[in-house]
Order: sequence, then structure tokens, then C-alpha cells
Amino acid sequence: MKQIVMAMGCLLFTGNAAAQSAGEYMAKVSDCAACHTAVGGQPMAGGKKFSTPVGDIYATNITPDKTSGIGDYTRQDFEKAVRQGIAKDGHPLYPAMPYPSYAKMTDKDIDDLYDYFMKEVPASNVKNPRNEIPWLLSARWPLHIWNWLFVDEAKAGEVKTGEVKTGETSAKKPDATLLARGAYLVEGPGHCGACHTPRGVTMQEKAYDGSSDLFLSGAMIDGWYAPSLRNLSMPPEELKDLLRMGRSQHGAISGPMSEVITQSTQYLTDGDLEAISSYLLSFNPKNVTPVSSDGAVRYSPTDGKTLYSMYCSTCHGDDGKGKDFTVPSLVNNSIITAKDPASLISIINQGAETPQTQGNISWKMPAYKDVMSKEEKDNLVNYVRGTWGNKTDK
Ligand code: HEC
Ligand code: HEC
Ligand code: HEC
Repeated sequence: MKQIVMAMGCLLFTGNAAAQSAGEYMAKVSDCAACHTAVGGQPMAGGKKFSTPVGDIYATNITPDKTSGIGDYTRQDFEKAVRQGIAKDGHPLYPAMPYPSYAKMTDKDIDDLYDYFMKEVPASNVKNPRNEIPWLLSARWPLHIWNWLFVDEAKAGEVKTGEVKTGETSAKKPDATLLARGAYLVEGPGHCGACHTPRGVTMQEKAYDGSSDLFLSGAMIDGWYAPSLRNLSMPPEELKDLLRMGRSQHGAISGPMSEVITQSTQYLTDGDLEAISSYLLSFNPKNVTPVSSDGAVRYSPTDGKTLYSMYCSTCHGDDGKGKDFTVPSLVNNSIITAKDPASLISIINQGAETPQTQGNISWKMPAYKDVMSKEEKDNLVNYVRGTWGNKTDK
């Protein structure tokens, strides 16, 4: 009896998976729900608040309700909003909505998405909160310029993988079709660059495709560092596991990336996960041939002083004093001398970046999360907390 129930469970499960429409799948890949669904709210009935320089803006109700939602959007209106960032009434959408990435979506994917939103998403009459900008339309005009500068270049379905450096020793070059699919998913619907690519002064991402070295080179987002995806060093299976489950043999995910995994990447087909990992790993020539899992074992634990000179002294100096206006001094620095070393440990793990202002370019410290073992990090932390006259607070 038990076996029969289990067998039925399996049937139901695969039945459900097969019944998913192409549009529903694309909505997951593009993670529309991440912004358009409030915690505990009805699906796609509106959600996240974005604080902008001119006031707060809310991700709107995009269910097919005629009055509160987008029920009166034609296929053309929908395409304009998603790929060009222009709402039905003609106002430009704030770039929190990742249309510069969605601009690359193919006509077919837009068609499927439109069908899904019109026919499958339940209509909800939840009203959009009023945007807190009374002079909204006049404040929006600079976005037209923003659009003109950064969005027009992208063409539907067109992605640039850049020069794929396959390395001399590679036995196996990545398959071109797989790479192209991966580039499409990452640069287009997956909008991975929205968090992983640094942004310039006007909030535009500094690059939208693999032809620039800045694309996916790492960025701060809401107090988290979304690390560079250009030098990932792990076997493709581990990367797929991370995107499917948020953990792998050697790694784990936390923070805003967890939401990306729960709402989006966990639903990707194995083929699409394979495509994304082969594209991302192609940035790092070392990865073209899968590295054995032994490759992850790096060094046996080293003392703090040696680690400091290996990883930190180039920038912070042997005397810990850094460089004026570029690299902070670690001497008598409150982050180092704090009673609780948590911030110091997070900085070592995640790296750091100076805020970019009009007068200065931003400087970055790399992340060392996977570079040192726990024991090595402890040695390093104890070393910097007890050197150059540093005394930790009691
Ligand atoms: C990272 C957050 C984010 C994601 C992901 C996102 N959106 Fe949006 N979207 C927004 C915000 C914010 C607005 C409102 C912008 C404004 O008012 O200027 C918006 C506006 C819209 C509008 C205009 C709605 C109206 O009221 O006229 C449509 C249509 C839309 N989004 C569709 C989508 C679809 C379809 C997806 C997935 C393919 C998606 N969005 C993914 C943030 C997002
Ligand atoms: C909402 C912001 C956001 C989006 C969108 C996003 N990421 Fe992330 N991602 C992060 C943050 C923050 C981290 C660091 C957290 C961690 O590693 O635990 C991260 C970590 C990762 C890691 C782990 C890197 C490592 O060295 O361990 C991978 C792989 C990754 N992201 C891939 C992707 C891919 C692929 C996409 C697009 C499908 C994507 N991310 C979209 C914010 C984001
Ligand atoms: C490539 C240059 C570079 C390397 C290598 C580097 N750092 Fe940094 N570090 C920086 C920069 C730039 C900042 C400032 C970032 C900011 O403003 O958030 C910084 C910030 C810090 C801070 C925070 C200081 C403060 O006052 O906010 C600490 C602590 C730190 N680094 C420790 C280390 C340790 C330990 C290592 C070695 C594991 C290391 N750094 C390696 C460039 C570097």
C-alpha cells in the first residue's frame, strides 16, 4: 500500500512539473515575483518598496485585474514595459525594474510571459500604494535620458559572451550552444548583473554583457557583497548544486542570493543550470576542464603573519597603515579593535568597497571567503588584532 501511495505521489509530482506552462517557467527564470509579490501577499499583486533619490517607488500589481493590475495591457504594452521600461501611460519605469536586462528577452519568451500573466496569474484588486512622489511625472523625466543612454543598445535575443578564454590546456571546450543559452539566461531574463555588476553614478550597471570585464565583477547590494562571478573556481556540479539548493559540497549561500534561489534558480531545468554554469565558469580559464574536488583543498593552515603578508600587505602595508585616501589603516581601527571581531571576519569573507561619490572612484577589497580555511582566518584575525600596538576593547 505504502509503495502505491509513493508511486502516486511521484506521478502527481512529475505531472505537475510537466503541466507548467512555458510562460510560468519564464516568470520563474526572470524572478518577477521577487519584486512584484509582497511577503505573504497575493502572487504578483505588488510588493517591494524601492527608495530612490526622489522618493519611494513600489513594484506594482501586475495581475490581470483591469483596474488595479495590468489587465488592460496589450501584448505590445506588455513588451514595452518589460523590455523598454515604459508603462502603458507612457511614463518611464524606475530602473529597479531590471528592463535593461529584460531588453534581451526573445519575442517568444515575451509572448509566453504575456500569456501566463493574462491567463494563469489570478487577478487581484490590491491597489498600488501611492508613490510617495507628488511631482512624480516631472521627477521621472531624467529617466528618459537614462533610458536613451543605456537601454537602446540591447537587442532582443542578442547576447555577447565576449571572448571565451578556453585556456591552452583545456581538453574540453564548452559547447557553443550551451554557452549561448547560458549567456542568454544570465544576461537577459536571469538579470544576474542587477546585483553582481557594479553600478555607476546614475545607478546604471557598468556593463550588461560578457564583452566587458566589469560585467558580474562584484558589487555591494543592500549591505551585502555580491561577489564576482568571473573567477568562480569550482566544478560545474558544485555550481549547479549552489543554484539548485543554496549549498554544495564546499559552499553555502546566504543573504539576498537565498531569495534568488528559493524563488528562481531552484526551478530551473537541469539543462538550463548546466548552461548557466558552463557560461559562468567560462570566464575563468582554469575552469574549462572540470577541477577535481581535491583541487578545493588549498593550503595547510598557515600562521597569521604569513597570511597577512600573502593576502593583505600589498594594499594595507607591512605596517598596517594602508595608503592615504585609498586603503584604510588597520592600526587603531575600531573594526579591528572591537570586542567582537564579527565585522572584521565579514570583511575578510566578503571583501569591501568604498562608496562611489562624485569626487572619487570606488576602491575594492577582494573577498577571501573560500581562500582561507577557518583556522587560517582565526590565525589572521588574531594576528591583526594583536599587532602594530592594536589592543582589543574589553
Ligand atoms: C528587481 C525588481 C523587479 C523585478 C525582478 C521585476 N520588476 Fe517589474 N517593476 C518593478 C518596479 C519597482 C516597478 C515600478 C517602477 C516604477 O513605477 O517606476 C515595476 C513595474 C512593472 C510594470 C509596469 C506596471 C504598471 O503598473 O504599469 C510591469 C508590466 C512589470 N513591472 C512587469 C514585470 C515582469 C513581467 C517581470 C518579470 C519578467 C518583472 N516586472 C520583474 C520591479 C521589478
Ligand atoms: C538580489 C541580488 C542578487 C541577484 C539578482 C543575484 N545574486 Fe548571486 N549573490 C548575491 C549575493 C549578495 C551573494 C553573496 C552571498 C553568498 O555568497 O552567500 C551572491 C552569491 C552568488 C554565488 C556564490 C558565489 C561564491 O563565490 O560563492 C553565485 C554562484 C551566484 N550568486 C550566482 C548568481 C546567478 C547565476 C544569478 C542570476 C541567475 C545571481 N547570482 C543573481 C546577490 C544576487
Ligand atoms: C586589493 C587591495 C586590498 C587587499 C589585498 C586587502 N584589502 Fe582590506 N581594504 C581595501 C580597501 C580599498 C578597503 C576599504 C573598503 C571600504 O571602504 O569599505 C579595505 C578595508 C579593509 C578593512 C575595513 C577597514 C575600515 O576601516 O573600514 C579591513 C578590516 C581590512 N580591509 C582588512 C584586510 C585584511 C585582513 C586583508 C587580507 C586578508 C585585506 N584587507 C586585504 C583593500 C585591500
